Amino acid sequence: MSRLAQDPGIAAQMAAFGAEWRPAERMSAHTSLGVGGPADLVRIHDPQRLPDLMEQFQRRGIPWRVLGGGTNLLVVDEGLPDVLLHLAHSSAQHGGLAFAGNQVEVPASANLGSTVTECAKRNLGGLEGLIGVPGSVGGALRMNAGAYGTQIGDVVRALTVYRGSIGKIETLRNEKVRFEYRHTSFAPDDILLSVRLQLPDRPYAEIVERVKQCNQKRRSSQPVNEKSAGCIFKNPPGLSAGKMIDELGLKGTSVGGAVISERHANFIVNRHQATASDILKLMDLIRERVLKAFGVQLEEEVIVWRQ
Ligand code: EPU
Repeated sequence: MSRLAQDPGIAAQMAAFGAEWRPAERMSAHTSLGVGGPADLVRIHDPQRLPDLMEQFQRRGIPWRVLGGGTNLLVVDEGLPDVLLHLAHSSAQHGGLAFAGNQVEVPASANLGSTVTECAKRNLGGLEGLIGVPGSVGGALRMNAGAYGTQIGDVVRALTVYRGSIGKIETLRNEKVRFEYRHTSFAPDDILLSVRLQLPDRPYAEIVERVKQCNQKRRSSQPVNEKSAGCIFKNPPGLSAGKMIDELGLKGTSVGGAVISERHANFIVNRHQATASDILKLMDLIRERVLKAFGVQLEEEVIVWRQ
């Protein structure tokens, strides 16, 4: 529980900032892994009011984090004392996507997969590889999500960001942000609000064909129908985490309800009501075994939120 939960007038105060107070939400319901204890959620309906809301948080010393689609996130079983800010989906047509020639302005709250298909309908390609990556556009940007040769950072033209350091909303050109392998140069207190993508013209049929191929590859090599957070560890330079874990014969290894996927060894799936603690223990086991066998220290790809 956050300190805000002790304030009886908090729901009305949040409403005055165009935000919705959702106390003690179980993070297991907000993450694709399906684990995690309670946290207080503030759903933002009007991002333009964010500077005023954040000023309140700062004045009251309220710690906060941004919750995106929850698809690359592991929250501990004890829950969190921080307030989780969550941008509400746009109710506008086409999920709030605004097209202008080869550019499209996309709210950070938009679903990544729907964005790929909405762009395809207008013969705009370049995002095909991202089709099966679950989550929000904001989350994909922050992590520079990538698959099958596509990285979202490659097609970014500009970003609208609430910058905690100055307490204001700013539009940044792509050159101002470094997009690296599953990492970007955004500050922890930057909140991504929207992005302008610049996409190449491509015939719809061609995009659909490429999307089909990516979907097929993903379905044959990843446990797409099970609860997971995608790849658990980053690939060390020049190496494949999944291959190393597989070579150690660890597929199918479990701790409690958490299992190393038989389909892809860099996925941990929540098969039997796993807890966050089960998953963290399984991650430790993998790290130790890979270090011992290969002398390689695996780095987490999944974001872990501890108290
Ligand atoms: N491999 C095995 N056994 C396994 C898994 C993989 O031998 O259990 C081998 C494969 O046969 C292949 C190599 O390892 O030779 C690489 O595997 P794969 O092509 O599946 O790609 P990956 O490096 O494991 C990366 C990304 C995925 C992304 C795919 C497709 C990381 C950590 N993972 O996986 O991204 O979907 O490429 O582009 O960068 C994610 O970010 O969450 C994620 C799943």
